[in-house]
Amino acid sequence: MIVMALDAPPMPRGTTLPEVNGRGLVSQQTPLQHGEQVFATFCSACHGAQGENGVAKSSKTTMDALVAFIKNPTGAMPKLHPDPLDDREVSAVATYVRTLQRP
Ligand code: HEC
Repeated sequence: MIVMALDAPPMPRGTTLPEVNGRGLVSQQTPLQHGEQVFATFCSACHGAQGENGVAKSSKTTMDALVAFIKNPTGAMPKLHPDPLDDREVSAVATYVRTLQRP
């Protein structure tokens, strides 16, 4: 059900609107916070909470390389894009993965 607050004050100019994904989830998180949540939900079971299993020391350290791999993984890694992860979620999780990497 959609509830509209008719007496809500107008949003000030420049306010960032929350993003809504295809499943109706509203996110007001930064990409990094969102990516952390995606990682905990979809990646940490295999890769460890801190990416210690195969992610922290991966040779794929750029956004482009990570996004490309997550979209089209090799070996036993499951393909999670475009379902359950959309473009925005893949890019958020790649942003987070980069913070786990200590080359
Ligand atoms: C079911 C287990 C599983 C899940 C879930 C999983 N992975 Fe993987 N991942 C793997 C395996 C296995 C490999 C090694 C693939 C290979 O060697 O070809 C891998 C490899 C990787 C690599 C390293 C690629 C390289 O060449 O160095 C990255 C980065 C990665 N995964 C990120 C992720 C992210 C981000 C997620 C969540 C969106 C995720 N994985 C979810 C199993 C998984």
